[in-house]
Formats: sequence, C-alpha cells, structure tokens
Amino acid sequence: MLPIDPEDRKEIGRTGERVSAIGLGTWGIRDREKATEALVHAVEIGIDMIDTAEMYNTEDIVGIAVKKVGRENVFITTKLLPEHFRDPYEAINAAKSSLRRLNLSYVDLILIHWPHSSSIEEQVRSLERIAEEGLSRYIGVSNFNLRELERAVGSTRKNEIVVNQVKYSVLDRRVEKDLLPYCIEKGITIQAYTPIERGRVKKVQLIREIARRNGRTEVQVSLNYLISRPRVTAIPKSERVEGVEEFRGAMGWRLPPEDILLIEKL
Ligand SMILES: NC(=O)c1ccc[n+]([C@@H]2O[C@H](COP(=O)([O-])OP(=O)(O)OC[C@H]3O[C@@H](n4cnc5c(N)ncnc54)[C@H](OP(=O)(O)O)[C@@H]3O)[C@@H](O)[C@H]2O)c1
Repeated sequence: MLPIDPEDRKEIGRTGERVSAIGLGTWGIRDREKATEALVHAVEIGIDMIDTAEMYNTEDIVGIAVKKVGRENVFITTKLLPEHFRDPYEAINAAKSSLRRLNLSYVDLILIHWPHSSSIEEQVRSLERIAEEGLSRYIGVSNFNLRELERAVGSTRKNEIVVNQVKYSVLDRRVEKDLLPYCIEKGITIQAYTPIERGRVKKVQLIREIARRNGRTEVQVSLNYLISRPRVTAIPKSERVEGVEEFRGAMGWRLPPEDILLIEKL
C-alpha cells in the first residue's frame, strides 16, 4: 500500500500536526473482535485517526488496537457526555474514566459530544482544564452550530478549539452554508460524521454514475467529495477489514471538478 498522499494529510486546527483525511469511526460495533482487527488494519494501511466516545462502549477496544499498533502511530479522539460539563471537576473525572477505559494516559483530542444547556464559556473552561491536566493534547467540540462555535472560540484562554465534529455527507451538505466557511477562515478542522449515510450513498443514482465513470465505489466517491474541501476530514465506520480498505481507497486521487459540481446540485 502506498503512503498517504501529502494532500490527504490534513492539519488538526492550527497545530501543525497532520492526520489522514479519512479516519475511522467506532459507533455501533457489533463484533468487537472483528472490529479490533479492522482498527489495527486501518492504522497499518495509513488511516491514523480513530474516533470513539464515552457513549459508544468502544473505548476499551480502541485501547486494545492502540496497544497493537503503537501509541505514537495513531491520533485518538474521544467525546464526553455534555452532562459532565456542569462542573470542571466532573469533566476532569469523566476524562479520567475515559482514559481508564482506553488504557491510555492521554488522548490527542477531547470533544464535548454536543452542547450542554449551560453557558458555552463554562463548557470551554472545563475542556481547557482537561487539557491543563495533561489528559488531552487538544480540545474541540461536536454538534456545535455556527453561533455556538463562535461563542466557544471566543471563550478560550490558552487552548484553541481545533475541531468541530458534525454530520456531513453528499446527502447532507448543510455545513457548507456557514459552518465550513467559518472553520476554513479560523483554521478549525471539520470531522464529518455519518459521511456515507450508513451505506445509503450507494443507492443514489448520480453517485453510482460518478463512481462508474471514475472507476471507484460509491462510498469512495462520497468520501472523496468531502475530503476535497479544505479543512474537512471524514470518519466513516466499518468493523470489516474490507470496509476499511474501501475507505483507504477514497484517498490518493481527486474527483474531477465537473463531478464535484454535479454533487453540489444533488
Ligand atoms: N459526534 C456525533 O454526534 C456523532 C454522531 C454519529 C457518528 N459519529 C462518529 O462518526 C462515525 C461514522 O458515522 P456513522 O457510524 O453514524 O455512519 P457511517 O460511517 O456513515 O456508516 C457506518 C455504517 O455503514 C456501514 N458500511 C460501511 N461500509 C459500507 C458499505 N460499503 N456498504 C454498506 N454499508 C457500509 C457500516 O457497517 P460495517 O461496519 O458492517 O461495515 C456501518 O454500519 C461513527 O462511527 C462515530 O465514530 C459521531
């Protein structure tokens, strides 16, 4: 397998650190043993960003996979439930619990899974406390709309918000309206979740035609459309080795501009 094309290594926020444009999600895993194998395989073929969350019950298997591939070879994101963000001590305890499940001393990125109803300033403060404690190298958010993200960015003291993890696919391009332009301007990385719409992209006639024309699969076309945008990474999930190989094949090439235009009209 060829190394990842430099164009497909995307910067995390403005940290100077780059990860593969395609990462791997871990929500809804059914067969934990197979999934661990797929996670290890993903890193071995160059997919070096893994997404998990307190809520997914997959932090432990991510930890097992990390031990097999080597901590320094993979960028780990986890997400904490918003209810912990009522108080910085509770948030720190939640981060420590995630680390225990992951069997790691730190993660690369911690996100609040979705905004809590309390003040955004307080939530950012808690995220910063987690970073200050050395439990996460970077901080970010998930499911924040433009107004919430602006508020979060304006509330940081020492750390930058490096990522907003949001739903984004060829069938759901709402983020392109205002969130993505803002992230491009501010140097915030988007992690696109549900990027293949749980396989639904395979049924879309236009995507099928573009896939056939380009000698790619529908899943690869759908992911390539996303990562062709500045600042966008995608975190599709598969617990199958063949699935992660298909995702890997979404990198190393670019859709022609005319196909991008057609998808934009979907
Ligand atoms: N921040 C948030 O609120 C949030 C919300 C949702 C998801 N996420 C993250 O984003 C990740 C991805 O999102 P997602 O899991 O919702 O959806 P997704 O990546 O769009 O789809 C995953 C599903 O598609 C299946 N799949 C994979 N390749 C396929 C193929 N070639 N044909 C048909 N089906 C295929 C997978 O099954 P197999 O495993 O059997 O391949 C899995 O069931 C999650 O795992 C999670 O890490 C974050």
